[in-house]
Amino acid sequence: MTPSPDAFATALLTWFDLHGRRDLPWQRDRTLYRVWVSEIMLQQTQVGVVIPYFERFTRRFPTLLDLAEAPIDAVLALWSGLGYYARARNLHRAAGLIRDRHGGSFPDRFDQVEALPGIGRSTAGAILSLATDQRHPILDGNVKRVLARCFLVEGWPGRSSVLAQLWDLAECLTPRERVAAYNQGMMDLGATICTRSSPACGLCPLTTHCRAMALGRQGELPASRPRRVLPARTTQMLVATNPAGEILVERRPPAGVWGGLWSLPETTPGQDLGDWCQTRFGTTPTRVEMLPTRRHTFSHFSLEIRVVSLRLEAARIAIADGDAQRWLKPQDILSLGLPAPVKSILETLDAEGAFEAGETA
Ligand code: ADE
Repeated sequence: MTPSPDAFATALLTWFDLHGRRDLPWQRDRTLYRVWVSEIMLQQTQVGVVIPYFERFTRRFPTLLDLAEAPIDAVLALWSGLGYYARARNLHRAAGLIRDRHGGSFPDRFDQVEALPGIGRSTAGAILSLATDQRHPILDGNVKRVLARCFLVEGWPGRSSVLAQLWDLAECLTPRERVAAYNQGMMDLGATICTRSSPACGLCPLTTHCRAMALGRQGELPASRPRRVLPARTTQMLVATNPAGEILVERRPPAGVWGGLWSLPETTPGQDLGDWCQTRFGTTPTRVEMLPTRRHTFSHFSLEIRVVSLRLEAARIAIADGDAQRWLKPQDILSLGLPAPVKSILETLDAEGAFEAGETA
């Protein structure tokens, strides 16, 4: 479908006039400085959280020069709790640059705004359009979602070709007039109606423009970041118990995965466990039971862990090296530093009562 920009913007603006957010603190006394501060605070934080921070910040630094002259620690103190402190550092650095290069007035040229620290294309467009009604498209996460659904833009928006399509749409749909209202309305629609999960399509002014809605594909768009398919490895972990109710643990080699941590003994899957026990302990298990398989994901591979419980009955089961192998009570093992899946395996068995007197693991 070719977008019909006028009808799209008209529908959105009519909705904004009735339902958009028009009484936010930065929408009163709407200066470039105040809108800039609000847009930086809103980059990773929701409106409701930002409001009190914005009020305190602009009371303490009413002008850009107040901010530029302030020590960074005073700026960070007022940011405390908002998170992403690089935003506050960039804001302070940009204030100094504006004082030195632009005579202390926030610039109103797109290239000069976009060149400031902490400001990308969308934030520059938002600041200039919201404060001065200049015609610039914006494309924050909310707007990406609205456009991807309305115009059936496939693929993950983090991919440059998908992003380019979204920017082209944003550019062509932005009206020539009432740009501030249009851009604020698109962000508000994305935040309140066209939400990621369970969008309120029944309340949306853009349903006649929305191809995802027509096809029932709202839940699929925009596409999530593709998952890398990680190489898979398989191992087998043994929960070997002795007559004292102790479990055999081994310290892993210092280098490599889980280096130096205590863990369960491992064998290759398919290993004959009768032979393995005979070699290790001079006895064979009286009971061998497969437990549910676990999966653990590392950054560069996924590990399938088959879990086997073994019951050994011999009274004395020798182990070769007390520094590298130990028989320990389950509670003592759980107080060691353990790899996450090993901790989970033992906690599950403990919760199931497998380690209580008389039970076998
Ligand atoms: N997120 C970023 N800018 C915003 C704005 N002006 N209003 C609501 N949410 C936003």
